[in-house]
Amino acid sequence: MDRELLFSARARSMKRSVIRELLKLTSNPEIISFAGGLPAPETFPVAEVAMATNKVLWEESDKALQYGSTEGDMRLRQDLADLMKQDGTPADPSNILVTVASQQGLDFVGKIFLDPGDTCVVGLPTYLGALQAFRSYQGRPVGVPLDDHGMRPDMLADIIRRLESENRRPKFIYVIPDFQNPAGVTIPENRRREIIRIAREGGYLIIEDTPYRQLRYTGKHEPTFQSMAPDSVLSLYTFSKILMPGFRLGWAYGPDWIIDKMVMAKQGTDLCSPPFNQAIAHHVMASGALQKGLVKTIELYARRRELMLSCLDNHLLDVPGIKWTKPEGGLFLWLTLPEGMDSDDMFHAAIQEKVAYVPGSAFYPDEDDHRSMRLNFSYASEMQICEGVKRLSALIHKQG
Ligand SMILES: Cc1ncc(COP(=O)(O)O)c(C=O)c1O
Repeated sequence: MDRELLFSARARSMKRSVIRELLKLTSNPEIISFAGGLPAPETFPVAEVAMATNKVLWEESDKALQYGSTEGDMRLRQDLADLMKQDGTPADPSNILVTVASQQGLDFVGKIFLDPGDTCVVGLPTYLGALQAFRSYQGRPVGVPLDDHGMRPDMLADIIRRLESENRRPKFIYVIPDFQNPAGVTIPENRRREIIRIAREGGYLIIEDTPYRQLRYTGKHEPTFQSMAPDSVLSLYTFSKILMPGFRLGWAYGPDWIIDKMVMAKQGTDLCSPPFNQAIAHHVMASGALQKGLVKTIELYARRRELMLSCLDNHLLDVPGIKWTKPEGGLFLWLTLPEGMDSDDMFHAAIQEKVAYVPGSAFYPDEDDHRSMRLNFSYASEMQICEGVKRLSALIHKQG
C-alpha cells in the first residue's frame, strides 16, 4: 500500500520548506541570529498579562473557560475597532473576525478564495508564510517586483494584463504595505491610490496584511488601504508584534460578504479563537497597557534599527554594489549583495562564523533571487547587533 496515495493531491503537493530546515541551524545559542522575525522578549507585558489573567480567572471564568462565538469576544472586537479608528480607519466591530493570529487569516484567504491552479498576485519578495498558505490550497502566487516604495503599480498593471490575456485572472492582490516583510519598505499614499485604482478597474480584491503597522520609527503616517477602499479590501492584523506572539491572536477586517465566509471557514477549522486569551487581551487593552508598552517597544526597536544601519554603514559602505533598505518601521531590512555573490551559498559560511540571516530566495515564489538577505533588528541585543554585523561584514569582504 502506497501511503502517499492516502493523502489528498493537496497534501501530496506540500513540501517542507528548505529554508525552515536551514533556520533550525540558527537555534544554537552561540549564533547571533538576524534570521527570525521575533519580537524582543523584554517587550512582553508580563505583569499586565498576569494581572489580567487573574481577573479573568477569578471574575469571568464561566465565560472565559467556555467555548466562545466564532466571530470573537464582542468586548475585544470593540477594542480593536477603537484601535483601528485611532489609526484613521473607520471600523465597525461587527466586521471584525478574531483569528488565531494573522497566519490563520492568510490560511482563510487561501481557503475561501483559491481553487487549485488559481493565481494570486504577491510582492517580489514577499512573506514566506503567505506563499505557504496560498500554496497549501494549490494557489499559484505570481510575483510583482517591489522597489524602495513597495509594489510597483506599473508592473502590477502589466502582470495583471498578461494574466488576463492568458485566462488566469488573479483572485486577489496581496500587499504588505507597511514596513514590508521581508524588504522593510513602505508604500506611500499616492502609490496606494494607484494600486487601488488598478484593482478597482479590474474588479480585484486587495488583501492588506499589516502586522508591523504600529511600529513606525520615522517618516510620515500613511493611510491604510482599508480606509481608502473599504469595499474592496480585506485587512489582516495581529497582536504578535505589538503585544506578544505567544497569544496567537489577530483579527481580520473587511466587508460583510468576506467576513461571513471567513466565519464559515473558521467553524470548520477551530470553532473559535481561544476565549481565555481574548478575555485577557481585552483587559490588557482596557488597562492601557498595549499603548503604554508600544511606546517603549518603539523606542527600543528604533534604537536597534539605527544601530544596525550605522554598523552596516561603518563596515560595508566600502563594498561596491552592495545596498540595503532603510526601513521606517517594522523588524527587518533587506540587504542586496554585489553582483556575483550568492546569499544561499554564503549561509553555511555565515553559520560557521556564528551569524545567521534568511537567504532572500525564501521570499520569492520561484526562489530565484540569490543576492539578497533579510536581516532582523528587533531580537538581537545592541552588543550582538554590532558583533553580528562585524562577522557578516568580514564574510562579505572575504567572499567579495
Ligand atoms: C507579513 C506577515 N503576515 C503574517 C505573519 C504571521 O504572524 P502571526 O500569525 O503571528 O500574526 C507574519 C509574521 O511574521 C508576517 O510577517
